[in-house]
Amino acid sequence: MEGITAGSFCTVMRRRGLVSTWMTPFIRVTEGTPASSRIRDRLRAFAPLPVVVQLMGTDIPLIGAAAARLALAPGVVGIDLNCACPTPIVVANGGGGGRLRQPTWIRDALVALRQACPTVGISVKLRVGLDSEDELPRICAAVREGRPDFVVLHYRTVKEGYRPVPNALRRLAHAREWLADLPLFGSGDLYTSEDAARMFHAAAVDGLTPARGLVANPWLVRDIESACRGDRVPDRTEGERRDFLRQLVGEAERTGTWRRGFVLELARHLFGRSHPLFEQLITADSAAGMVAALAGDATWPTIPRKPEPGRRRQPPLPK
Ligand SMILES: Cc1cc2nc3c(=O)[nH]c(=O)nc-3n(C[C@H](O)[C@H](O)[C@H](O)COP(=O)(O)O)c2cc1C
Repeated sequence: MEGITAGSFCTVMRRRGLVSTWMTPFIRVTEGTPASSRIRDRLRAFAPLPVVVQLMGTDIPLIGAAAARLALAPGVVGIDLNCACPTPIVVANGGGGGRLRQPTWIRDALVALRQACPTVGISVKLRVGLDSEDELPRICAAVREGRPDFVVLHYRTVKEGYRPVPNALRRLAHAREWLADLPLFGSGDLYTSEDAARMFHAAAVDGLTPARGLVANPWLVRDIESACRGDRVPDRTEGERRDFLRQLVGEAERTGTWRRGFVLELARHLFGRSHPLFEQLITADSAAGMVAALAGDATWPTIPRKPEPGRRRQPPLPK
């Protein structure tokens, strides 16, 4: 996830053994192949776990050249092609979900990627269409011809963004048929192991790719694995969630990557906006202040906040 699965978040997830492999956020391929130093920087957060590098672009030779270089980097086990990003500016420029307009382009890009990087896996991330799910059969047919090793399918159209969609799992079930023998990984609103079981049973997917749910519950992948084994899924205590965030803030401070907005965004997902801890974190003006708040130290000095007369002011939150 762009803006989340990087730096301290990935480091803490790995140290705690909460993931076994990563897919990077998309890397835009717009001009030339990325320099070795940029590749090293982008991949540092994921090492030493195996990583699938996701690329986004519109120029097949350029994407192929970038992929060939990235495939040689330590730890890289696959290249994924992003044809799913719904960000309006990306789509308007023909990238991400904008690629769904031309399913044959996706096929050609997959074939080119295979030729450019024969030693790693090739995959594609899709949505069910740009404007309508009716586009899905054509998209699946083209993708099959491109012969990726697996497909990740988010069950909304690009136009639907992140809005609720009725019968979304049915769309995955159709894709399961239309993609025939290609391994299919489902994506969409996987917040709990129950959500995962529902998707697995409704669409017979081969794998699941939780995204936002990992921010609300960093233990989610392990919880889903426990549920699949038939084991009890442990409840995560507030203390454990505090510890996770405290470790993350410490790691961010240590590496000089602490960003107040990012930590608040995680805290909002982990504890909820109305939790008293969230209020304390908002008033902390340093990593040390946040660590103190997470440790329950009420004596740490905070930024005084002036409520507007007659109305409680909510500080702006990052999107
Ligand atoms: C902040 C944010 C960043 C994302 N970045 C990426 C990305 O870089 N590559 C990608 O394939 N999907 C990205 N996604 C989409 C997710 O991978 C996932 O498909 C989507 O959020 C639906 O799954 P969920 O409902 O379980 O979160 C992003 C989503 C969010 C909310």
